[in-house]
Amino acid sequence: MSKGKGKLVDTSAQLDNLPWVEKYRPKSLSDLVSHEDITSTIETFIDANRLPHLLFYGPPGTGKTSTILACARKLYGDHYKSMILELNASDDRGIEVVREQIKNFASTRTMYSSGFKLILLDEADAMTTQAQAALRRVIEKYTKNVRFCIVCNYVSKIIPAIQSRCTRFRFAPLETEQIEKRLETIVEAEGINLTEDGKGALLKLSRGDMRRALNILQACHAAYERVDETAIYNCTGHPHPNDIHQIVHWMLSEEYTTVFQRIESLKQDSGLALQDILEEVHLYLRDVELPSNSKVFLLEALSDIEYRLGEGANETIQLGALVGAFKLGTSLASPQA
Ligand SMILES: Nc1ncnc2c1ncn2[C@@H]1O[C@H](COP(=O)(O)OP(=O)(O)O)[C@@H](O)[C@H]1O
Ligand SMILES: [Mg+2]
Repeated sequence: MSKGKGKLVDTSAQLDNLPWVEKYRPKSLSDLVSHEDITSTIETFIDANRLPHLLFYGPPGTGKTSTILACARKLYGDHYKSMILELNASDDRGIEVVREQIKNFASTRTMYSSGFKLILLDEADAMTTQAQAALRRVIEKYTKNVRFCIVCNYVSKIIPAIQSRCTRFRFAPLETEQIEKRLETIVEAEGINLTEDGKGALLKLSRGDMRRALNILQACHAAYERVDETAIYNCTGHPHPNDIHQIVHWMLSEEYTTVFQRIESLKQDSGLALQDILEEVHLYLRDVELPSNSKVFLLEALSDIEYRLGEGANETIQLGALVGAFKLGTSLASPQA
């Protein structure tokens, strides 16, 4: 269908300084490693010269921006940059500025036969309902010259009047295999020494977000010659599985003061956040054998601590609460009497 895949990487030297998320942004729709149903539907629209307004929603790093940029390339070729206006809806200058920019952009003539230009409106879910209502009128007014692509994380925050004017596409988090496939190309192009366990850790921490995968990889590659599991965890400041194993073991077996001090110094040394520790301990607990009343007690305590941390509570005090919860929770397991 397309004229074959473009080169994956431009060779010019300027690209060396680029963040990899830009350097390795897919150039064509066929470079996207996922959401084939979405890309093929959009290609059909484009081939039939019937592109509707689009609404892309889904979590970060799943290819929403890349997809619309690839569409622009397909529509307008290498001059696509003059045919697409990228706006960030969360821009605090407000809808008036956005409206002005859209007006200016939409009313200048195009040199291309397709007749319409593209406006990419990112983070639209950050707009107030009033601003969205204003946007809706703008969309109606310029439908002749412009196709809008509205991008957001949460479609429920977009008013129905806008939703109904767009064709909706949901971008699911990428599958591990899809991220892996794309990473392999980049690992080879950059000559990265990525070990198997390093790759495993990277995939685990990316959680379906390709941007996160690339950013972690680039940071690690810059800091370490060999990107292994430890390098990945050090680089992200995320607790290493061994640390979590250790922490839970301490909490189950050591004296309160000892545990508290050990965790505190581990946190200091490795720059760990209690929030991340908590999340991992929570996962770890699933596989720890404990009487059910202890487990229930602990899970509830963890969720309270997590809530308090989210509200900005003091980490040291919450660490105390965590260690205390383990002491209390496990004492339920072996009643003295
Ligand atoms: N489906 C995909 N296929 C290949 N690369 C992807 C895909 N999704 C995201 N990426 C990579 O992740 C980075 C961020 O993608 P982007 O399209 O900006 O995500 P979003 O707009 O959904 O947050 C891009 O540089 C791209 O290299
Ligand atoms: Mg984006």
